[in-house]
Amino acid sequence: MRVGVLTGGGDCPGLNAVIRAVVRKGAAVYGMDFVGFRDGWRGPLEDDTLELGIDQVRGILPRGGTILGSSRTNPLRVEDGVDRITATLQRHSVDALIAIGGEDTLGVAAQLHEAGVPVVGVPKTIDNDLGATDYTFGFDTAVNIAMEAIDRLHTTAESHHRALIVEVMGRHAGWIALHAGLAGGANVILIPERPFDIATVCEYVEHRFRTRYSPILVVAEGAVPVEGTMAVHTGETDSFGHVRLGGIGERIAREVETRTGKEARCTVLGHIQRGGTPTAYDRVLATRFGLHAVDAVHDADYGVMVALRGTDIVRARLSEGVATLKTVPLERYTEAEVFFG
Ligand code: F6P
Repeated sequence: MRVGVLTGGGDCPGLNAVIRAVVRKGAAVYGMDFVGFRDGWRGPLEDDTLELGIDQVRGILPRGGTILGSSRTNPLRVEDGVDRITATLQRHSVDALIAIGGEDTLGVAAQLHEAGVPVVGVPKTIDNDLGATDYTFGFDTAVNIAMEAIDRLHTTAESHHRALIVEVMGRHAGWIALHAGLAGGANVILIPERPFDIATVCEYVEHRFRTRYSPILVVAEGAVPVEGTMAVHTGETDSFGHVRLGGIGERIAREVETRTGKEARCTVLGHIQRGGTPTAYDRVLATRFGLHAVDAVHDADYGVMVALRGTDIVRARLSEGVATLKTVPLERYTEAEVFFG
């Protein structure tokens, strides 16, 4: 069998571990060979391929990013996109495709499957917001990077008696903010699922200063104020219609300074959370996803994605996998509130 592999959407630590596992097991156990498509759906759309075999996956397990490259190309918004992809797959005698990506990439995979393309999905996102799986690889690495940043910010905040705001990724879901904030002992955590009241945030800040400690506020990039309480930002959109976020932390810092009279500064962690080497947890999860994805291809079980349920790797229908976004339940947020202020 000849299998195509691509990685789409925002990259995350562990993508290379998936690619390595797919190729190693596919070649050694099933005698498959592989073709890599460059930059997500752009690869099959524009017939841009690269060699993918045992030699190409040597030494990539600890490497961040993706050797295949990634993009946010949406082939469904390109005229004849599906036909062009099908033609590329035929040209390269590809029997099946493994698509590694988040809700957008897997959403496209689900529709291509409906159009007759034999595809298996592997979920990835640092945001951990895919409904079908308990965890995605990349999340643990991002949380650890954010936690280390918070640890460092605590000491400098206290030296200078400042409020420090850390803006982390999390467009629709506050998992990174919640976990990093809990692990790092934040005094306020703001997430998209729970609109915040800036007056309450400032009360927490003032309370923290009164106890002679400096407050650390962890803010997800998608956090929003209660309607009408603070100005909100709208920016340009990508080909999946997502607004480019970033800036809520800085606006909160300005409000905190104005309302409390205390100096407030913001650190935006941005893509630092996505780059670099994956944690052991993410390497293991990504490797197991890769091994099980290639099993699904061998079984000709298409239209599915691999997923983590408890400690087991299972298969879920792609269409179900992308149907719901996994957001932070209110009770999980409430657990953390005991540490606020
Ligand atoms: O989808 C993961 C994510 O990390 C989001 O939290 C974030 O909004 C987005 O990627 C930003 O990605 P990029 O800067 O590559 O568009």
